Amino acid sequence: MEQRIVSAAGREEDAVLDLSLRPQRLAEYIGQEKAKEGLSLYIQAAMNRGEALDHVLLYGPPGLGKTSLAHVIANELGVSIRVTSGPAIERPGDLAAILTNLGERDVLFIDEIHRLNRTVEEVLYPAMEDFALDLIIGKGPSARSLRLDLPRFTLVGATTRAGALTSPLRDRFGVISRLEYFSAEELEQVAVRAARILGVKLDPSGAREIARRSRGTPRIANRMLKRLRDVAEVRGNGVITRDLADEGLRLLEVDELGLDRVDRRVLETIMVKFGGGPVGVETLAAATGEEVETIEDVYEPYLIQIGFLQRTPRGRIATRPAYEHLGVSYPVQGEGSPEAQTRLL
Ligand SMILES: Nc1ncnc2c1ncn2[C@@H]1O[C@H](COP(=O)(O)OP(=O)(O)OP(=O)(O)O)[C@@H](O)[C@H]1O
Ligand SMILES: [Mg+2]
Repeated sequence: MEQRIVSAAGREEDAVLDLSLRPQRLAEYIGQEKAKEGLSLYIQAAMNRGEALDHVLLYGPPGLGKTSLAHVIANELGVSIRVTSGPAIERPGDLAAILTNLGERDVLFIDEIHRLNRTVEEVLYPAMEDFALDLIIGKGPSARSLRLDLPRFTLVGATTRAGALTSPLRDRFGVISRLEYFSAEELEQVAVRAARILGVKLDPSGAREIARRSRGTPRIANRMLKRLRDVAEVRGNGVITRDLADEGLRLLEVDELGLDRVDRRVLETIMVKFGGGPVGVETLAAATGEEVETIEDVYEPYLIQIGFLQRTPRGRIATRPAYEHLGVSYPVQGEGSPEAQTRLL
């Protein structure tokens, strides 16, 4: 069985974990201070006026708390939330059914909103803008259109790639919030909170170690905590200390910086097979056996964030710190070296 600590959502185990650990209110929601500050203000203002909150787009890498924040928004507004996702809404009729069943001021959460198909998206435009549904009745010359009023609702959209949204859709969101990687201090709080909820014995030194190695991502911190609890119960005295975390993460092949096997494979492939790059993402995907989307959405953002990888118009380049971290010798300067390539751009 392949144990992946990094990786996108969608695992059974996470579904259970997410439910129990998901913060319910803004006050419990750790980090993302900028997003929270704006949202709490807009929520307050909408509630004072007795109106629906403006539509909100949340974007950022997987596991940073988009879905959690959508639920928090609905809870703060004191309304119901209806949850769906871009790929799940296949036909305009599916969306129409969802929209007509919303209550006044409810939240409609559409995850992976960049994957809505075009005909569905077109139904969404008047719904978002005018709270109306345009129905075409009949066919051919006798067809006529009928406008149906919808309740005023708040659409919360989530995506890992805001760039993949069409601009008419993006323009209809009043609030656009980008979620950032968590700091080590914030991740420590995430781990301590999760340990409290799950009844795990977590030493402060263990919490620090988890925080340091979970790639700025609360979902990864929570996953590590669960895995390390197993190690602590079997190999230790049940307490997750720094040493135990270190041993457990070695078993999971998570390195000092929190990089896992796939991160290292991606970097090594660029360095060894492609002389440091630039290499196109499709080629990189084929050479590593990963999907393009997984590389782009799950792995690259963090490698770029820590300065190990650069995205250039001609492809991906591994940087000097990445070579040093993996202990691969940096190519000699000159034509064809990654630095020379960067200068050429
Ligand atoms: N601010 C937070 N405070 C505490 N825990 C959090 C916070 N944000 C996220 N988490 C934890 O991280 C896990 C993942 O969060 P969530 O599912 O909301 O991420 P996501 O951005 O929707 O991910 P994806 O892009 O994969 O859908 C949740 O189970 C939750 O417990
Ligand atoms: Mg989500």
